[in-house]
Amino acid sequence: SDPDLVARARAARAKLGDKVFILGHHYQRDEVIEFADVTGDSFKLAKDAAAKPEAEYIVFCGVHFMAESADILTGDDQKVVLPDLAAGCSMADMATAEQVAECWDVLTEAGIAEQVVPVSYMNSSADIKAFTGKHGGTICTSSNAERALNWAFEQGEKVLFLPDQHLGRNTAVRELGMSLDDCVLYNPHKPNGGLTVEQLRGAKMILWRGHCSVHGRFSLDSVNDVRERIPGVNVLVHPECKHEVVAAADYVGSTEYIIKALEAAPRGSKWAIGTELNLVRRLANRFAAEDKEIVFLDKTVCFCSTMNRIDLPHLVWTLESLAEGKLINQIQVDKETESFAKLALERMLALP
Ligand code: 13P
Ligand code: SF4
Repeated sequence: SDPDLVARARAARAKLGDKVFILGHHYQRDEVIEFADVTGDSFKLAKDAAAKPEAEYIVFCGVHFMAESADILTGDDQKVVLPDLAAGCSMADMATAEQVAECWDVLTEAGIAEQVVPVSYMNSSADIKAFTGKHGGTICTSSNAERALNWAFEQGEKVLFLPDQHLGRNTAVRELGMSLDDCVLYNPHKPNGGLTVEQLRGAKMILWRGHCSVHGRFSLDSVNDVRERIPGVNVLVHPECKHEVVAAADYVGSTEYIIKALEAAPRGSKWAIGTELNLVRRLANRFAAEDKEIVFLDKTVCFCSTMNRIDLPHLVWTLESLAEGKLINQIQVDKETESFAKLALERMLALP
């Protein structure tokens, strides 16, 4: 990275002292991670954000929904800042408040809404989290989806899983032992979600038709090719990957799980990782010294472009502005949305 920018970031950071707390998601660039006070997956960061009440500014190096969640979970006097407002998430954008309200009407008309518990992935807007809280549901992340689904099936007979169909399907089939036939796919762009009343009544899992544009690109061919190229390789993927990819992998888990698995891996072992490229590269460099060979599962897959929007120039601009007393790029969820979204997030944090 540019040494001048590094020096400016350090100076602004030092001037702010304890007033600022910098969170960095594992998918962030190395140049940004270097300045993070804590790093983590979205579950860990949600907890970490709430654990620093004395910091006036929470600078969230991640994407928009994560900054919203941090705002919901932190005190009113704490300000959450996203260094680039264009750092969104294409998956979160695949479920809007209007579409989800319409879906609930469809479930109501089919006579099943009372049996349905919504479970929403962290990767969703504050509006969707509020919808979830209002209808008795919980949020989940990729590290607690199994616990969240088990909890939800204690509350009702069916789950509406938003917005990542893959995490929903993979968790239901892999962890809860359901069959693919227990799941139906609700398409928000089609009348009645493209489903008949019978299909809705017969389903246990109603999956929203959303996906991650990065993880969705790993394929069964990626897995077969790497196994051929590197005999004895362990394939480890994130549960946002398609079901066929997850079914063909050796291990599946959140970003935090992936890091722990590699820490525990024996020397000389070989790994192909199916998750965001910034993290895979960082892990490959870190573990090369321990003689662990780590490759990216499919070289044709790119970085998450929105995660990558947070770069060193944006971080410098953010820290220097805050150090001058100028509040920029604040992410603030309105009170009404916040109260219901908080309910859903707190249900997640209380999961056994
Ligand atoms: P986790 O951090 O929960 O593993 O999620 C990955 C992700 O896609 C975040 O956007
Ligand atoms: Fe969204 Fe996928 Fe990027 Fe995560 S990796 S922020 S789910 S687009």
